[in-house]
Amino acid sequence: MNLLIMGPPGGGKGTQCEVLIKELNITHISTGDMFRENVKGGTELGKKAKEYMDAGQLVPDEIVVAMVKDRLSKPDCASGFLLDGFPRTVAQAEALDATLKEMGVKLDAVLNIAVPREKLLERLTGRRVCRTCGATYHVLFNKPKEEGKCDKCGGELYQRSDDTEATVNQRLDVYEAQTQPLIEYYGKQGLLKNIDGDQEIAKVTRDILASLKR
Ligand code: AP5
Ligand code: MG
Ligand code: ZN
Repeated sequence: MNLLIMGPPGGGKGTQCEVLIKELNITHISTGDMFRENVKGGTELGKKAKEYMDAGQLVPDEIVVAMVKDRLSKPDCASGFLLDGFPRTVAQAEALDATLKEMGVKLDAVLNIAVPREKLLERLTGRRVCRTCGATYHVLFNKPKEEGKCDKCGGELYQRSDDTEATVNQRLDVYEAQTQPLIEYYGKQGLLKNIDGDQEIAKVTRDILASLKR
């Protein structure tokens, strides 16, 4: 199955992906995670991306599109993938359509996770991420068993540098202006599954899985 998950910053895309990739046995492709790995590794791509990320802006389309195209060509995508955080602009969506066409592959569904804007600031400023395995937690809504430590691997939990109040507000504005138009784009293609993301994490997962069976 080839899926795409979209939704605002803090909507729960990464959290749902952790479960969905196991449940559906498909490959997770998060452009945000790929950029963060490059930042961590000190690559040229990472240096370029960090400036945009910390300002709450999108990395330019041509950089993201080239990175995703390369990733989709890897063998582990052949049995299905889940794109998270890509595309984020109409130009990226058009480039994705062209790439998939070239590959002879089709999207099966686009999951659109909706959460009211006023809930997102609290979700993002309280988020903690495992430095080792990338698992996502929240200081109130999804606490690790031991503070500051990952349940899955014992790694250290940290706060993303773009999860400050000022950057979050900027990211939310950018989402509304540049990414929300994709809801209509995929609606027209008949691929859209609207999911209420303002519910318990496990209920959101159940709704997603049910929507894929319909
Ligand atoms: P990216 O890493 O993709 O960030 P984002 O889209 O802003 O989304 P987040 O990862 O912040 O949120 P999420 O929806 O994954 O939520 P999560 O599950 O963690 O991108 C970062 C940056 O990279 C961008 O700003 C841009 O600069 C660049 N970039 C990436 N892709 C790009 C592209 N295609 N083009 C250009 N630039 C690009 O959950 C959030 C918190 O809420 C967690 O603490 C979690 O525990 C909690 N939570 C989750 N679900 C629930 C729930 N149901 N109830 C209560 N709490 C919940
Ligand atoms: Mg994420
Ligand atoms: Zn971990």
